[in-house]
Amino acid sequence: MSDLMTLYVPLDSTALAMGADEVVLAIMTEAAARHLDVEVIRNGSWGMSWLEPLVEVVTDKGRMAYGNVTPEEVPGLFDAGFLTGGEHALGLGLTAEIEYLKSQDRLTFARCGLIEALSLEDYRAHGGFKGLEKALKMLPQAIVDQVTASGLRGRGGAAFPTGIKWNTVLGAEADQKYICCNADEGDSGTFADRILMEGDPYCLIEGMIIAGLAVGATEGYIYLRSEYPLCRDILHEALIEARDAGWLGADIRGSGKAFDIEVRMGAGSYVCGEETAMLNSLEGKRGMVRAKPPLPALEGLFGQPTVVNNVLSLASVPIIMDQGADFYKNYGMGRSRGTIAFQLAGNIARGGLVEKAFGLPLREMIDGYGGGTDSGRPIKAVQVGGPLGAYLAEGDLDLPLDYEAFSAAGAVLGHGGIVVFDDTVDMAAQAKFAFDFCVEESCGKCTPCRIGSVRGAELIEKIQAGQAVDDNLALVKDLCDVMDSGSLCAMGGMTPIPVLSAMDKWPADFRKDGVEK
Ligand SMILES: Cc1cc2nc3c(=O)[nH]c(=O)nc-3n(C[C@H](O)[C@H](O)[C@H](O)COP(=O)(O)O)c2cc1C
Ligand code: SF4
Repeated sequence: MSDLMTLYVPLDSTALAMGADEVVLAIMTEAAARHLDVEVIRNGSWGMSWLEPLVEVVTDKGRMAYGNVTPEEVPGLFDAGFLTGGEHALGLGLTAEIEYLKSQDRLTFARCGLIEALSLEDYRAHGGFKGLEKALKMLPQAIVDQVTASGLRGRGGAAFPTGIKWNTVLGAEADQKYICCNADEGDSGTFADRILMEGDPYCLIEGMIIAGLAVGATEGYIYLRSEYPLCRDILHEALIEARDAGWLGADIRGSGKAFDIEVRMGAGSYVCGEETAMLNSLEGKRGMVRAKPPLPALEGLFGQPTVVNNVLSLASVPIIMDQGADFYKNYGMGRSRGTIAFQLAGNIARGGLVEKAFGLPLREMIDGYGGGTDSGRPIKAVQVGGPLGAYLAEGDLDLPLDYEAFSAAGAVLGHGGIVVFDDTVDMAAQAKFAFDFCVEESCGKCTPCRIGSVRGAELIEKIQAGQAVDDNLALVKDLCDVMDSGSLCAMGGMTPIPVLSAMDKWPADFRKDGVEK
């Protein structure tokens, strides 16, 4: 046997869907046939989804990457000497030098792809638990103050300042407080939470423990969407490992402080990502939205003060505690501080995850990172911020990716999902889709959303059929006004955003030639 050679092949859902397990099997079989001693480490994804399965080999020069590896290519890769970085058509050079990756600002995702996903040792060797170790020596208020000073705003959609939310929970008097991590990730074209949880699960766990120390909560729940079964398995394993190593439990690393986490699965409902519906679902009830006030920070899970934060809000906390508020705050623009994980999806040549400081123009994200449309046809529309986000036209693409700039343009950044459409898309059909989505996902508590969405879909159908187009367009606008002002939550309140943006920017799609006006 020769010297042991090390390879990395991701275990994340995208890589698996693209055949990563079959590639590992082919590599092990080929290595055995050639009497080569090979170990395969299962890392998370670097987020370069269009290159999956991405196989890396550890060489003297560093980790060398080979993209889109198939089992059929494996013998050829061995022939080319890829175990020592040999040249091959699939070769991409050093992973760290791939421009897509190299030019990012990786703070929250610094370890994703780099480390073995479930190795506590690897996590610690790359800065893991440093933030928590500092937090364990701090007073709760000092932790909250540091998060507040970092400028971190919720990454789940509403962009509410995390420190202010934590401060409210810290100030609430109660015997029991909770940390609830919102891992429902239902927005179209989003997968950043999943990539983080599958590639660096301890980072989320560390963030949740720090949140618990900050507000005085001893119990945490991860509300995970049912569509993420692999994520569930990884989180379960990570929680067991973390507990065994004393990072969770009644006495965290001998500090006398307690915190533990459970994973709870959702059941495939978009609205259960809304924080109060999520709390109901966690309590075992139907996922219906609750009226606010009371705020979950004061009366949340089981009526107790509760922090509800997105996966990435919580996973941003360890680096803030480790490197300090100023370090984090130095990234970004205006009131959008730090970095955000964008997810490029839809008709895009290089789909994947890009973590960047706020402020980059949308065009640079789509063309520079995404490489434009996959079809090679011109871009017609881009939807940012999930199914309730605005459709942006080619002329809007110079908008900087910043919460305030988007809000001023009537758009939202939301969870950072960017879905690209080429010029074959029909925007009237997209407007109908927005209403249909709301019909499907409405929790049914209030009339504008429950009934309005059904009537809206009917109106668009009539417009598509060319029936009384002007009158029906005016009715859609009125209906949107009612939904916007009369809905209890953002589900019904924001459905008008994609509808109206499609109507405003692509009026021709609502007036097809040859049909009655
Ligand atoms: C219909 C609807 C769906 C939502 N889905 C999610 C989701 O999947 N994940 C998430 O973190 N926030 C989601 N939100 C936002 C949450 O209500 C809440 O603002 C967020 O979890 C708070 O965490 P953050 O401050 O860290 O962003 C959704 C909101 C609405 C109205
Ligand atoms: S707007 Fe829709 S989802 Fe929100 S509370 Fe009303 S019915 Fe439920």
